[in-house]
Amino acid sequence: MTTITKNLTNTPKALPPSDQLGFGQHFSDHMFVAKYTEGKGWSEASVVPYGPLSLDPGASVFHYGQALFEGMKAFRKESGEVVFFRPEFNYHRLAEGAARLCLEAPPMDLFMEGLHQVVAADERWIPKGPNTSLYIRPTLIGSEPFLGVRPSRETLFFILLSPVGSYYSEGTKPIKIWTEEKYLRAAPGGLGAVKAGANYASSLKAALEAKKKGYAQVLWLDVEHQGIEEVGTMNVFFVFDNEIVTPALNGSILSGGTRDAILQLLRSKNLPVVERRITITEVVDRLAKGELKEAFGTGTAAVISPVGVLHYQGKDWTINNNENGPLSTQLYNEITAIQRGAQADTLNWLVPLKK
Ligand SMILES: Cc1ncc(COP(=O)(O)O)c(C=O)c1O
Repeated sequence: MTTITKNLTNTPKALPPSDQLGFGQHFSDHMFVAKYTEGKGWSEASVVPYGPLSLDPGASVFHYGQALFEGMKAFRKESGEVVFFRPEFNYHRLAEGAARLCLEAPPMDLFMEGLHQVVAADERWIPKGPNTSLYIRPTLIGSEPFLGVRPSRETLFFILLSPVGSYYSEGTKPIKIWTEEKYLRAAPGGLGAVKAGANYASSLKAALEAKKKGYAQVLWLDVEHQGIEEVGTMNVFFVFDNEIVTPALNGSILSGGTRDAILQLLRSKNLPVVERRITITEVVDRLAKGELKEAFGTGTAAVISPVGVLHYQGKDWTINNNENGPLSTQLYNEITAIQRGAQADTLNWLVPLKK
């Protein structure tokens, strides 16, 4: 495997208070970087002090948007042990996304070794407080400088670390969401199924407009403005009286690690969960009939975020009295207990940090 060198900082930063972290506000002391060059392979793999990258302004990422990232977490268990949550899931999603964007994915051993080494270098940055963790952002960009549309022959891989608290200012309280009918996040055959930066660029305007109207997130629909896709940066689940439904992965929805973990948990309890197409018309009809008990989003950042208000075509529908529902509360408690080591990891989700 490519050798990883280490150049540790002489000027470590002060740690932010763990009860005031917010999300994505702080970066740790170090980052991992490695470079792929066609014909040469991976080189320059190193843990270095966190700081600016030197990139040619002609780099393909700036012009043709070759940028892909992952979002995953490490936790400090109550015992003090540090664990990653399902890093292989994120590796495979990154590798699939890289193929779609014509970027080079690092081999799995380089990804894992880089991850372990940078987190070990910044172990003191893994916060201890309730609802805190170390958010990890592996990223791939096309770094070759050229003009003219074609895939970059160079890929830069880096991993950033950010200690985080709650994703939403609401904490774990229910959020209000806006059903978006003007803008689309993704379309069949496009990039929706991969974590390309371009998807987030295309989502910003809708999210901004929804926020101005008082909604925390957007509910994305498909090209027909019927099929439900996801909610902002989360997958979505609807709990009806006879079934739990999440939209099937149709090629334009991101295959979330939290979605997958929730499906595993629900199936392990023999609860009636189905992955299928679900339309906004069905949701609103069943809401009107009183059949929708809970709705929640799932994602690495927020884990589970109950939906308290759903706006569709001029009407605000309240779900479960705008309160946290029993199923989302139970799932949130179980996943976070497993992450903290307070509940047995029977589904083998945790990978200990190598020392
Ligand atoms: C668009 C989108 N959908 C779904 C998710 C949830 O994915 P995961 O559970 O892997 O974080 C995310 C978050 O990362 C996202 O950005």
